[in-house]
Amino acid sequence: MSMHLSDFNELPSHVWPRNARRNNDGTVTIAGVALPDIVAEHGTPVMVFDEDDFRSRCRDMAQAFHGAENVHYASKAMLSTRIVRWVKDEGLSLDVASLNELLIALRAGFPAERITVHGNTKNREFLQRCVAARVGHVVLDAPGELVELNEIAAEMNQHQSVFVRVTPGVDAHTHEFIATSHEDQKFGFSLAAGDAWQAVVDAHQASNLDLDGIHCHVGSQVFDADGFTLAADRLLELFARVHQELGVQLPILDLGGGYGVPYLADDSELDISGIATDLITAVNNKAAFLGIDPPQVVVEPGRALVGPAAVTIYEVGADKNVQIDDDRYRRYLAVDGGMSDNIRPALYGADYDARVVSRFTDGHQKSTRLVGAHCESGDILIPDFACPADVHTGDLLGLAVTGAYCYPMSSRYNAFTRPAVVSVRDGRAELMLRRETIEDLLSLDVEPDVH
Ligand code: LLP
Repeated sequence: MSMHLSDFNELPSHVWPRNARRNNDGTVTIAGVALPDIVAEHGTPVMVFDEDDFRSRCRDMAQAFHGAENVHYASKAMLSTRIVRWVKDEGLSLDVASLNELLIALRAGFPAERITVHGNTKNREFLQRCVAARVGHVVLDAPGELVELNEIAAEMNQHQSVFVRVTPGVDAHTHEFIATSHEDQKFGFSLAAGDAWQAVVDAHQASNLDLDGIHCHVGSQVFDADGFTLAADRLLELFARVHQELGVQLPILDLGGGYGVPYLADDSELDISGIATDLITAVNNKAAFLGIDPPQVVVEPGRALVGPAAVTIYEVGADKNVQIDDDRYRRYLAVDGGMSDNIRPALYGADYDARVVSRFTDGHQKSTRLVGAHCESGDILIPDFACPADVHTGDLLGLAVTGAYCYPMSSRYNAFTRPAVVSVRDGRAELMLRRETIEDLLSLDVEPDVH
């Protein structure tokens, strides 16, 4: 890597939160709050969410897709009652993918009618809670679920609005684990095999289900917008068949999430507004061609709204040079977190941008590997980055774009406790999720009864 000395002091503005700045004294602030001050109060690792960054991305997305109600925040990316309240304030809708995600959203006072419920296998209790709470839509993902949800709605003397999740057979060109629209995977009903058509007919005929639309999700961290357009194109043919054979016009086309974000300084940003315009135009044109009313296009972004809003701050610990062959050494810098608070590098080979946030750095840049504190050699946060020589034990290091899928996928490996999560706005920091403690861990530990 060839970077200039000073580059490491810069914060790439398309990767760091919109309100991140480096002060004249070298410390980094977000929304006017100095990150070292947050660390002084809450310790490390700590995650810091820039509230205005998140809200501004919600507004950008709402504008791109012609209305906040058309944007469903995918809460699996990051969920807390405070985030749910931000989403509610911004007028967006909300996606949940488990019973507990639903319960957190309801606890935060999110209007149930603006919630869409996902899940490839929802048990009876989950389905009952959906109907009882009167959620906006349940996304049907399996034949048995369709029958069970209809029974539950009938027992409760209610109607439940539903979408059918369809696999349109589109290759999303992303990591296999987060690509969801090719044929051989667990989600949805296959369009090619005819399962989707059958599910649509069954949902249409079910006495207590109201079929409102079709859903698909091509994958996550997608940069090639053609996947979205191709999926929309195929689903509209299903809309046309529904119109022809069942005599109804389905009002909603839910195209899922997946909008990619830059993680590294060299990555470019996706032009979401351009993609949205192209997508909506393509939908309208295809609908006109098929002779149907154009459905309302709904999207479910998670990462694009919340990923860039947060950074994770660690303290640098061990610093050593490891001989890797006859005349080459690699510098290993360790931080006080790792795969427990961010499994993405180990799981997907995900990349992150790291900067010292407590001061200016200097010195010849050395190829460095950033590792975590866990008992596993694969606990690597950044395999190789150009790090100034003077970075040392005790420095505070920030990793950007950790807002999506880090905290929700965190673990307690090595009995680590989950980090504190703080939100910042207008020069004020407020704790959002407190750090877990050893008492939290021990509180699960049940002693046998001693007689
Ligand atoms: N809608 C559905 C039905 C989904 O399954 C997902 C993500 C989304 C929306 C939101 O996708 P997004 O806009 O955030 O890309 N853990 C992985 C990502 C898994 C995404 C799962 N589904 C990661 O860390 O990259």
